[in-house]
Amino acid sequence: MSVRILSIESSCDDTSAAVLSDGILLSNAMAGQEIHEKYGGVVPELASRSHQQNIVPVVDVALKEANLKPKDISAVAFTLGPGLLGSLLVGVSFAKAFALAMNIPIITVNHLQGHVFSTFIREKADDRVPEFPFLSMTVSGGHTQIVLVRDYFDTEILGATIDDAAGEAFDKSAKLMGLGYPGGPVIDELAKDGNPDAFHLNLPKIQGLNFSFSGLKTSFLYLLRDEIKKDPDFVNKRKADLAASLQKAIIDILVAKLRRASRETGIKNIALGGGVSANSGLRSRLQKIAQKDRWNLFLPKKKFTTDNAAMIGIVGYFKYLKKDFASFDVVPKARLNDY
Ligand code: KG4
Ligand code: ZN
Repeated sequence: MSVRILSIESSCDDTSAAVLSDGILLSNAMAGQEIHEKYGGVVPELASRSHQQNIVPVVDVALKEANLKPKDISAVAFTLGPGLLGSLLVGVSFAKAFALAMNIPIITVNHLQGHVFSTFIREKADDRVPEFPFLSMTVSGGHTQIVLVRDYFDTEILGATIDDAAGEAFDKSAKLMGLGYPGGPVIDELAKDGNPDAFHLNLPKIQGLNFSFSGLKTSFLYLLRDEIKKDPDFVNKRKADLAASLQKAIIDILVAKLRRASRETGIKNIALGGGVSANSGLRSRLQKIAQKDRWNLFLPKKKFTTDNAAMIGIVGYFKYLKKDFASFDVVPKARLNDY
């Protein structure tokens, strides 16, 4: 009999539910939350309230698109953490209630492991997926890390950010420019018409494979402050060049560490994950490097870069095969280190 996983992701501001059959994705439904744009960031209390409103209809859509009924599901996988506690709680409670009602097991998934395995989401049986061992660079709004993945459940974090995440560098700088939230996609669009060498920004000097982005943000802030003094309309006049220069600096930081990790480990299977891996500048730079350094590069499909339940479902499926089920008294975790 087929293994059918219903998965739930509710760690931040998007409510998502997906259905997989024997590891192949059947549906991936999503409800975003525009409400946060007004505040320039995610408001936790509003996020959990919208999850409560969205969760039942989103699961309903996921099941309908998969053409399945609740009784067809073998197990429910859900994000245990890390994330906003109130948001996680909605997904965890729903998953438990669904599983109890259907008398099926539950599976906990670390959100970050979801991003690491987002290149394993197959929509067709012959979709290409990475081979072990591979290096995964997860670049999201909350995390930036390079992980050595020896096997499904044998991973080692080689480097991580010591301050802001790459997505935060986009979001906070976009906010300084008075652009909307989230800033990453806005910068990405603007950068297409800008000169990446128009402005010089200071790059951090961090040892080893760790990252830092807070200095870059400060350097960007000083640049804006000095130029606005001379011309109050500076940001508006130069926004494409500013976006392109900022994006180039962030990409330079990410790419330098990823190449170093590949050199040091000798691993050329490289996978990306997380919201920032949707960035078109980063994707095209990595494709060029892949040719030069002979990497086997795996970029997630754009729809699987930002938070989604499909990535939680694929990890849930691997855990199902190991019969790695959770107890019903498990509680969500705002912080979660182990995969
Ligand atoms: O993975 P994700 O949906 O959520 C977290 O787990 O954090 O990532 C969201 C982040 C935001 O910071 C957003 O600005 C960034 O991903 N992002 C992008 C792009 N699309 C989303 N950053 C740069 N370029 C993009 N095209
Ligand atoms: Zn995420």
